[in-house]
Amino acid sequence: MSTAFVVGATGYTGRHVTERLAREGAAVVAHVRADSSALGAWTSRFAAAGASTNATPWTDDDMARTMARLRPDLVFLLLGTTRARAARDERATGTAAGYEAIDYGLTALVLRAIRSAGIRPRVVYLSCTGARADSSNPYLMVRGRFEQELQASGLPYLIARPVFISGSDRDERRIAERAASVVVDALLQGAAVLGARALRDRWATLSGVTLAAGMVHLALDAPDGRVVADAAAIRRAAIAPAP
Ligand SMILES: NC(=O)c1ccc[n+]([C@@H]2O[C@H](COP(=O)([O-])OP(=O)(O)OC[C@H]3O[C@@H](n4cnc5c(N)ncnc54)[C@H](OP(=O)(O)O)[C@@H]3O)[C@@H](O)[C@H]2O)c1
Repeated sequence: MSTAFVVGATGYTGRHVTERLAREGAAVVAHVRADSSALGAWTSRFAAAGASTNATPWTDDDMARTMARLRPDLVFLLLGTTRARAARDERATGTAAGYEAIDYGLTALVLRAIRSAGIRPRVVYLSCTGARADSSNPYLMVRGRFEQELQASGLPYLIARPVFISGSDRDERRIAERAASVVVDALLQGAAVLGARALRDRWATLSGVTLAAGMVHLALDAPDGRVVADAAAIRRAAIAPAP
């Protein structure tokens, strides 16, 4: 049985991944930030799904100790902020909370912790289409940079590159993405009717359920694999039988 550590477990994708992994029989440890006001509620929700909760603080030493103790064979890296949220967090705390500090900084901290613990899990990273280390868009740039670091790490990995992630079951923390995804999906649905199904599979929105099923199946399928999966590949894996 796999042991999976899920970072960003409280997010839209993270919840679905945590619950899906537990249903597939993995031993799941869902990471919740130590200062979360909802730590108790998350602990109960994850316990009901068959997962345990871990609230390791965001420091190199603490995370490395957790990795060395749990020795997961899968680590999911699913966290990230938005511009609006970063601005709010920065006003409230007075410390940097943008893409560089959160999306890149905390994700890279976990990768460092894995290496200092001397373990070799498969790392599943939720990136996005268009991620490029030399992009002038800071969101795409930090994702491209982390993809490069993960690919150079020598660890097995799965990099998921969806376009939009949304669904009627998500809260509206990412209102802009939700609105854009509805418009793009309507256009793609029209194109699919005219025969452009491949275009729709590649660019249309992935729901949390489909994204989680696809990522979990791809992650469990090849423990030593080094794979980059676009939305079409994730969609195919989601409907394939569990490995
Ligand atoms: N939405 C899209 O269309 C889309 C498309 C492609 C890729 N992505 C990327 O995929 C990732 C997950 O997306 P999602 O929609 O599942 O995200 P989400 O629902 O907004 O969840 C974000 C996660 O990141 C954590 N987080 C945010 N700010 C944090 C901070 N300052 N410190 C510690 N943890 C923090 C949250 O923890 P708390 O619950 O404790 O706040 C939560 O677990 C994101 O990085 C996103 O950029 C999104």
